[in-house]
Amino acid sequence: MTSNAFLSVRAEQTRPFYVMELLARAAARAAQSGPAISMVVGEPDFPPPAPVIRAAQAALSKGDIHYTHALGMPELRQAIAEDYARRDGLLIDPERIAVTAGASGGLLLTMAAILNPGDEVLMPDPSYPCNRQFVTAMGGVVRTIAVDATTAFQPTADQVRQFWGPKTKALLVASPANPTGTMLSHASAVSLAQAVRELGGVMVVDEIYQRVVFEGAPKSLVSLGEDIISVNSFSKTFSMTGWRLGWLVLPPQMSGALERLSQNLYISASSLAQRAALAAFEPESLAVAEDYRRRFTEQGRYLLTALKQLGFALPSAPQGAFYGYCDVSGLTDDSYQFCLDLCDHAGVLMAPGRDFGEHHGDRFVRVSYTKPLDLLQEGVARVQRFLKSGQA
Ligand SMILES: Cc1ncc(COP(=O)(O)O)c(C=O)c1O
Repeated sequence: MTSNAFLSVRAEQTRPFYVMELLARAAARAAQSGPAISMVVGEPDFPPPAPVIRAAQAALSKGDIHYTHALGMPELRQAIAEDYARRDGLLIDPERIAVTAGASGGLLLTMAAILNPGDEVLMPDPSYPCNRQFVTAMGGVVRTIAVDATTAFQPTADQVRQFWGPKTKALLVASPANPTGTMLSHASAVSLAQAVRELGGVMVVDEIYQRVVFEGAPKSLVSLGEDIISVNSFSKTFSMTGWRLGWLVLPPQMSGALERLSQNLYISASSLAQRAALAAFEPESLAVAEDYRRRFTEQGRYLLTALKQLGFALPSAPQGAFYGYCDVSGLTDDSYQFCLDLCDHAGVLMAPGRDFGEHHGDRFVRVSYTKPLDLLQEGVARVQRFLKSGQA
């Protein structure tokens, strides 16, 4: 019996991200050459707003850290609902809100709630890599729709109709999306929702970056109807990645199922994080989140313009999140090797396109601009020297 003989096929087949290889190489070279500049991370570089920290400290001092209701503390569900009313003008019954262990927990519970073994979920390629695992972990089958810049890397209603089969249950999209930062236009979102409705499925929208949009304040796509499942999180908006807290807005008839699943699978989301998150909707915290949004916008504007001048094409400009999906086919014919060389020779980290899908992954890299401007400037200077040196 080999040491891995007891592992499931699922465990064996879940591969690490290619970017892990880059991080290992960067750690190995750091002792000699200093730290690499990261344009690879998918999390804000900022602390959570001060009221969130204070609320966590107060909760800890009180010691009232027990299980909560499986769908979250009623006052937090209420606060989330009130935020939709204030920000998007949407009246959502707090009963439709399920507080989860991050958007990740929300996606996993959603798949647990809607999939029978063999059911298919459509999603664009490229997209957030973990989405595939959420589906397969629950016995589902992923069907990808290859998308490109002609549709801002989002699927169209025609494509959804074309790819929909007898076993298809759901469409999973994100707006803004990872790795592209591109959004669904309102018209596209409406036609996607309509197509999925006609096909008898469910549309799941990952809106984790909904409040990290560069211009305007688009309404949540839950505005399209009570049948939409929206996934959201405190991670990116409030710089609370490690607190592991997110939420779902559910069709009314799904709350009971989510409650049973959540109760059984992990009882409740962290109650310390929930108590802290209540303070995220205070005016002071919302102002901090707005400042972070503005800084991502500035950092992105700088980085993407500077990289464009170095030959990183941007076929579809991001409208939110903190990513750019750059076509580097003018610089290399293998974006993964390019990322490895950039790491080894320049000390700059970018994520290879193949981490996000198979469709032209070798042409693309994802850059993130969560680091402060001075670091990004140093990173750009390093990339420039690397390209001039002919090591690409
Ligand atoms: C599109 C998308 N969805 C979900 C997640 C997971 O977020 P959370 O920290 O809330 O689990 C991420 C994290 O990068 C993401 O980019």
